[in-house]
Amino acid sequence: MNILLLGSGGREHALAWKIAQSPLLDRLYIAPGNAGTANAGENVPVRADDFDAIKAFCLEKNIGMVVVGPEDPLVKGIYDFFKNDSLLAGIPVIGPSKEAAQLEGSKDFAKKFMQRHGIPTAAYRTFTGENLEEGLKFLETLKAPYVLKADGLCAGKGVLILPTLEEAKKELGEMLGGMFGNASSRVVIEEFMSGIECSVFVLTDGKNYKILPEAKDYKRVGEHDTGLNTGGMGSVSPVPFATPEWMKKVEDRIVRPTVEGLASEGLVYKGFIFFGLINVDGDPKVIEYNCRMGDPETETVMLRLKSDIVDLFQGVADGNLDTKVLETDPRSAVCVMLVSGGYPQHYDKGFVISGIEDVRDSIVFHAGTAFNDKGQVVTAGGRVIAVSSYGSNKAEALALSFRGAGQIDFEKKHFRSDIGQDL
Ligand code: AMP
Ligand code: GLY
Repeated sequence: MNILLLGSGGREHALAWKIAQSPLLDRLYIAPGNAGTANAGENVPVRADDFDAIKAFCLEKNIGMVVVGPEDPLVKGIYDFFKNDSLLAGIPVIGPSKEAAQLEGSKDFAKKFMQRHGIPTAAYRTFTGENLEEGLKFLETLKAPYVLKADGLCAGKGVLILPTLEEAKKELGEMLGGMFGNASSRVVIEEFMSGIECSVFVLTDGKNYKILPEAKDYKRVGEHDTGLNTGGMGSVSPVPFATPEWMKKVEDRIVRPTVEGLASEGLVYKGFIFFGLINVDGDPKVIEYNCRMGDPETETVMLRLKSDIVDLFQGVADGNLDTKVLETDPRSAVCVMLVSGGYPQHYDKGFVISGIEDVRDSIVFHAGTAFNDKGQVVTAGGRVIAVSSYGSNKAEALALSFRGAGQIDFEKKHFRSDIGQDL
């Protein structure tokens, strides 16, 4: 089978690496990919949300399956685009329908869904410009810190956590006044939850599901979780507090009600569900849903997935995921992200990356890389390279990733040297 993978980040390189190991694969194409995915398959100069170009490509190359990495094409309805096109309808798309992708695309939709199905999450209310006054009064009933979330997609920037009531009131006014454009025309205000976060991933065919290895990511740019939020500076799997007992609570209270809730409401979902969880005094609660894999969690989760991912995807497409086996690698996996100096604010691109070929004991996933006109690999994004490693324990894996992080170099390289130290 020929597979088209959409996306261009570290998550997609990790997915490409895993897909490329499958005996069921003939050819793998990545649109648009990066300098690393070119080693796992063939990059195609097509944007991940250019549906017409994707259609033409699928027909030309006899694509048998489309795997969607990022949320954007899903929220824009790539699943439905294929299902509603007579030439494409037979090609399975691994991902949710447009309606179901609102679990990520709209915070308000996700909160209402959780409420309908009794899934544990923070108490909340949603406000618009029309009831700003009520929103300000609602804030007065809450305790600090205050959590404000733009309803729509904001590339990970739409959540504000504010220490004082004054700041919360001011920001609520600004968000509803168009701070994030249309995405913040509705704002969810929620109760603050205190605990450690954990990302849990599920692959579902809409009826059956498999729980993948969990992971923890490190969102802040600075050591010891200081500084601005990023897309993620590293990840580790397994997560020590995700014991079998805790994961059973996750499955019984969150995963199963979610999959059953989707099915009972006729929300078509054939892909990954990412549960952003927080452990509040031993009980898992949902912070957010995403309709895709996490980045940089995928760069550790793929290392710990022993089963053939294409076979699992086939189970999703055929609706018989229950007949497949998901086998997990017992080893630890970690990933340390090398980022451009200045990220997540302004940073420069185009710096030549050296030393990748010296890294022998880790798996180097490219995130923001490209080829320059001399064919050299250069930086092309904020997050540049994920250095992923196995170990018989976390410390062993971390030592390998930090060694690799030191061997690879580019101007203004930055990484966090405390990944995994808090667990
Ligand atoms: P989200 O985009 O919803 O994942 O929010 C981004 C980050 O904000 C999360 O990863 C959490 O660290 C934090 N966060 C969001 N909602 C809450 C909440 N209700 N209580 C505490 N922290 C939160
Ligand atoms: N690592 C968090 C995310 O992918 O949204």
